[in-house]
Amino acid sequence: MTVLAYTPDQAADPVAQAGRRRTFAIISHPDAGKTTLTEKFLLYGGAVAEAGAVKARGGRRRATSDWMAMEQQRGISITSTVLQFTYRHCVVNLLDTPGHRDFSEDTYRVLAAADAAIMVLDVAKGVEAQTLKLFEVCRARRIPVLTFLNKYDRPGRDPLGLLDEVEQQIGLRATPVTWPVGLPGDFRGVIDRRRGEFVRFARTARGSTAAPEQVVAASQAEAEERGAWEQAMEEVALLDAIGADLDLASFLAGDTSPLFVGSALTNFGVRHLLDAVVDLAPPPAARADSTGQERALEEPFSGFVFKVQANMDPAHRDHVAFVRVCSGRFERGMTVNHAATGRPFSTKYAAAVFGSERDTIDEAYPGDVIGLVNASDLRIGDTLYQGAPVAFPTIPAFAPELFATARARDTGRQKQFRRGLAQLEQEGVVQVLHDPDGDPTPVLAAVGPMQFEVFTFRLQHEYDATVELSPPQQRIARRTDPATAAQLKSAGGSRVLARSDGTLLALFESPYWLRRLEADHPDWRLEPVLTDPSGT
Ligand code: G4P
Repeated sequence: MTVLAYTPDQAADPVAQAGRRRTFAIISHPDAGKTTLTEKFLLYGGAVAEAGAVKARGGRRRATSDWMAMEQQRGISITSTVLQFTYRHCVVNLLDTPGHRDFSEDTYRVLAAADAAIMVLDVAKGVEAQTLKLFEVCRARRIPVLTFLNKYDRPGRDPLGLLDEVEQQIGLRATPVTWPVGLPGDFRGVIDRRRGEFVRFARTARGSTAAPEQVVAASQAEAEERGAWEQAMEEVALLDAIGADLDLASFLAGDTSPLFVGSALTNFGVRHLLDAVVDLAPPPAARADSTGQERALEEPFSGFVFKVQANMDPAHRDHVAFVRVCSGRFERGMTVNHAATGRPFSTKYAAAVFGSERDTIDEAYPGDVIGLVNASDLRIGDTLYQGAPVAFPTIPAFAPELFATARARDTGRQKQFRRGLAQLEQEGVVQVLHDPDGDPTPVLAAVGPMQFEVFTFRLQHEYDATVELSPPQQRIARRTDPATAAQLKSAGGSRVLARSDGTLLALFESPYWLRRLEADHPDWRLEPVLTDPSGT
């Protein structure tokens, strides 16, 4: 591991510590290589001596958690984990996100805690339709995005065409920082456009150690790489001509995306990407509170909950709240204020959590993530602080698109059913709606069908309650108010349900009917349920 050379003064200074933090998430379609890349980051960060350790941890995680078994069966990751390692002079916090569009709301919440993201694309597949939603979420938050074109060691598509695809589909202008020499499947190395040098890579056995790199002079590259070099030089000239160059300001504004080409499997290009995390991704900055006022980094401790999860360790029926630190120094054991209730909250049980494994954490700084164990009172979006009161903006819920009624199959287990329902709602696994004047049967609302599967699975495995779900129906949701709700009732063709945060949602089966009502009654409150952070 890197030894960090800091004087004792800087050691406890939140501003100096924040300057060393890089907190980011990796977003990708399942199978594009997120797990492999994560593992290689740990290898380059010196946190594991040989690649393979993440998988070993994954194996242990499998053994201790029932419902995570579902992730393994389906080959997807539902839980988000947080990894911390040092690289060069920085402390890198890597937040994992679920790689499936049905969990884009979860990704959105994780992105609220990240300062940047890496978008991993498979060079053979490009931007995959099912993943578009995840990338759009990234775009909506206007978070700086680095792009990694992965699996270049295998045959794939023309990288210039992929640049165009990223721009057309996601609206991000890719600016290649490295450019490959050799076709996909015949990967020799990359041209580092900033330094104007060719870096040739060599393979190691199974990519288990860092790929040896050799900086090769242009004349030598021309003689040795011939056609591949010529083609790369032509492409680089084209990139120069169209001005597809790294631009820090537009990257930080979320308009352009520095692009890196590589292969996580063979480690080619991994170092360039990790260097970019340190050199280009922004450190934590003062965060605006819900009134728009910024909380300076040097203020006493503050942070917000971006994820809660129960039963990560089924043996202990625990309840973990993940808190992103925004200002000050966190010290385990300190008593903080819970902005939502005004009550004090003890942080005796603070941990760094990786899956179901955890290590006690003693201190943390802006950009870090702490897991507070047995924090059943904390909700997603809640703020904790010391010193001057602060409340960070809540994380908006997504517009649900699928709806299903939920009944306990075994009437003798109503209590467990209700307990599970409340918990899974709190975690944001599904949204739970009720008819404000009548039918008490809860209606589950989701963005994607797999959320219902996770709900059913966890209810059964963690609460021993089986659920009977009606076939999910697609509806268009609009936010409304009690006056409009009464009018809608007499107009027919819709149903109004209440979310537990008090929001009234009007659900429409037919888009035509909705459009007609909107045209005929412009005074009715029928607002789109916002999904982007610029909204309410
Ligand atoms: P994910 O987390 O995004 O779902 O992807 P993951 O890293 O698990 O990678 C999916 C598959 O793609 C794995 O193969 C992995 O080895 C492979 N892969 C990842 N990066 C590269 C790369 O740069 N080049 C090539 N050629 N393959 C890559 P698998 O057969 O599913 O698993 P395994 O048996 O290799 O572990």
